[in-house]
Amino acid sequence: MLKRIAGISLLLAGTTGLFSVSAQQAEPTPEQLAAQATNTRQALFQVLFYNLNMISGMARGTVEFDASVAERNANRIAALAPMITEVFAANDTRAFNVETEALPIIWDQMDEFEEKAHNLENAANTFAEIARGGERNAILGGIRAFGGTCGNCHETFRED
Ligand code: HEC
Repeated sequence: MLKRIAGISLLLAGTTGLFSVSAQQAEPTPEQLAAQATNTRQALFQVLFYNLNMISGMARGTVEFDASVAERNANRIAALAPMITEVFAANDTRAFNVETEALPIIWDQMDEFEEKAHNLENAANTFAEIARGGERNAILGGIRAFGGTCGNCHETFRED
């Protein structure tokens, strides 16, 4: 118990140290923040892709069928989907010269954008439920509808 408390205070001391060090550094410029936000959202999409690609590979026959992997990856996607709106809402990068395929209308139509992220989350949860059932045909048959929710947002909000 004491050991744990000591550990926690050490951790807190470490965190405080970190804060004071970073406070001495210059604050990032708005340009740097916009570039960072763009990197973050693109990395998020890469991770979403990594997880979906393993599932769609099962349909294509390039990844060995495994219902538990399909379920796990769908749950990961469901957990990450709300981050899409979060990272876009946190930083409107339109005024900055960032390397991006995000269309400017995202920030004008944030409700619709959020709805499409919700659709992905719902589809991922539905698919995870199917995958939990373990039935191969049902799982392979559910992949298109799941993946379609990615493309549905890209059609409206991402450059071709
Ligand atoms: C709510 C809208 C939305 C949904 C849902 C969505 N995307 Fe995207 N996606 C975007 C936007 C916008 C970009 C462009 C981001 C940028 O360039 O800043 C993008 C970019 C990407 C990229 C390119 C990332 C890079 O490195 O530039 C990949 C890959 C991708 N999405 C895959 C997916 C996959 C897979 C899914 C579903 C599991 C998905 N997306 C769901 C909107 C969405």
